[in-house]
Order: sequence, then structure tokens, then C-alpha cells
Amino acid sequence: MAYAAFRSIGAYVPSKILTNEELATMVDTSDEWITKRTGIKERHIAGENETTSDMGVEAAKLAIERSGIDSSEIDMLICATISPDYFCMPSTATIISTKLGLGNVTAFDISAACTGFVYILSIAKAFIESGMKKNILIIGSEKLSAITDYSDRGTCILFGDGAGAAVISATDNKDEAIIDVHTGADGSYADLLMTPNGGTGSPHDSLEQEAKSCFMQMKGNETFKVAVRTLTKDVVEILADNNLNGTDINHFVPHQANYRIIKAVGDALKLTQKQVVITVEKYGNTSGASIPMAINDIYEKGILKKGELILLDAFGGGLTWGSALVPFSPLK
Ligand code: UT7
Repeated sequence: MAYAAFRSIGAYVPSKILTNEELATMVDTSDEWITKRTGIKERHIAGENETTSDMGVEAAKLAIERSGIDSSEIDMLICATISPDYFCMPSTATIISTKLGLGNVTAFDISAACTGFVYILSIAKAFIESGMKKNILIIGSEKLSAITDYSDRGTCILFGDGAGAAVISATDNKDEAIIDVHTGADGSYADLLMTPNGGTGSPHDSLEQEAKSCFMQMKGNETFKVAVRTLTKDVVEILADNNLNGTDINHFVPHQANYRIIKAVGDALKLTQKQVVITVEKYGNTSGASIPMAINDIYEKGILKKGELILLDAFGGGLTWGSALVPFSPLK
């Protein structure tokens, strides 16, 4: 049987920074409020003409280079995004594939909001274990600034742009294999976090409605409570299913939505400060890109070492959620 190994990580962060102080000139908020309630100090914003695919390409180039495999060996590309280059088609994955010159590979997007990266990890694992594919490039890329309402202080302080990518490859060595991925969803909470953007569920009546309804809307406080509950439950379940304890985990990489959520989950699981990876202060919430950007952060700092066990934990619009137990298995 083939197993799926997490070979490499890469990320891209746009250069422009939007600080809390700048946001305080745009809406009725303050650096103090944002820092205290979210832990966020700044977020990065893509250039006006910089697209989700452009950022995905940069993250992917790094992941491919670090994987030790040639780009011609990649046989599938999956992109997780809620801010695609185009609303319906073509998919952002096909655009990235062409920009990278990957040739004739299977390429598609999935929509699972902030859980997107865990979802594409589970798809990559399944394709590799079935023997259908050998080297899969997975990318979480978001230009959330394009779908953020900068007159809504409840959401605009949270979101940022960026991309992260990983190469998942077939191996016959079980020790390097992704151990497990859990995913779930519950549409009865759909209204907590949504972009009512003129899809068939909510067609536009007017141009004015069209402009506003393309932006994200969130019931922040309700979402917060469900997030803490769900993220904690996810981890308890995946650890129990695999006869592991919190002490077996080297790096806990939760979705970076809010420092208070991460702290509450880490405390409930009795994880140490050293185990919990936090990047929310500098990137804000980058949805499907947040987990791979955080993994890349510990990789580039030299904290993430070959053979160490990473626990991923995500939660987002849909609602969707997921967790994964991933040994870091670079070739070199
Ligand atoms: O990534 C997907 C999942 N997303 C999440 O998990 C996000 C979850 N939610 C959150 O992170 C938090 O709920 C927020 C940061 C969005 C809001 O924090 P909160 O502690 O839940 O605040 P709240 O919504 O209960 O609002 C408390 C007060 C309200 O004022 P009143 O009614 O008490 O007078 C808000 O109007 O804070 C006010 N408020 C603000 N004040 C200054 C809300 N946003 C702001 C703001 N600046 N930006």
C-alpha cells in the first residue's frame, strides 16, 4: 500500500502591511481593542493587481523547490480558497497550474473556508493511498481583502491576505506517513459566517445589493463560542482515535482566527506554550492559507524538524472543521 508523506512547505506573504492604527482611521476601533480581543497587531494586504493565483504560485514554487521533486512529477494540484480569481470558473487551481507550467495535471478548487487546507490534505492523502496519484501540490491562498467590508469593524480588523503550499508524495515507509485526517461539516450554522454574494441561494436584486453582498458577514461572538468548542473536540477525538496524547505532539498548528480562541483551546487541551504555534498577531486571519502559513513560519525559523509530529486543527465557514496528525517528512 502507498502512504502519503508531507514532504515540504512554502508560503507567500504580500509586502504591504495594514496596522491596527491604520484601521482605527477607517472604522470606530482602536489598537487596544483589537489587540485585547483578537491578538492581531497587523495583517498583510495583496497589491491591487495581485491575485489569489499569483500568491498561490509564489508559495507553490517554494514548496516544490523544498520538496526535492521535479515539478514535472506533480500529477495533481488542489487549491483551497474562498477568494478565487474568478467567481465560478475557471478554478484558481487551473490558473496556478498553468502559471507554474505543470502541463496536463488534474487541477481543481475546493471551498471549505478556514478548514480548506485540512480538507485538501485529506483529499491528497486519499488519492495517494488509492494509488491514483503520486505527487500532489496542495495550496491554500486567499485575497480576503477583496471580500472584506472595510466599513464593518466586526470583520475588517480580522482578515489578511497570503498563501501557503505543501507537496504530498507517495511513500512506502509508514513512519513518514500522514497518520490521520478528520473532516466534518454542519450547514445548519451556515448563517454564522457567509458571503451572500448573488449565488442561486441569494440572487442580486440591484447593483447596490450586489456590491455589499460580495463581502464577508460574520456573527462573531456566536462563531467564537462554536469555534472553541469544535476545535477542542476535534483534537480530543483525533488523539483518542490514534492512541496519542497531547505530550506526543511537537507542534500544534490551529487555524489562526483569534488569539483568545487559540489560548482557550490550548489550555483546554493542556498544551504547553512551546507546543502551540501562533502567527495571528502578524498575519491576522487568512482563512484557508492560515495553517500552511503557520507551518511555514516554524519551518523558516528552524523550529520544525524532520520527523516531528504536527497536529493541525481548523474551523470555519460552512460550518466546517477538521484536524490532522502529520509527521513532517522532508526527503532531505
Ligand atoms: O475564521 C473563521 C472563524 N472565525 C472566528 O472564529 C472568529 C470568531 N469571533 C471573534 O474572533 C470575535 O467574536 C470578534 C473578535 C469578532 C469579536 O470579539 P468579541 O469579544 O466576541 O466582541 P463582540 O462581538 O461580543 O462585541 C463586544 C463589543 C460590542 O459593543 P457593545 O455592544 O458591547 O457596546 C461591539 O460592538 O465590542 C464592539 N466591537 C468593537 N469595538 C471596537 C466589535 N468590533 C469592534 C471593534 N472595535 N473592531
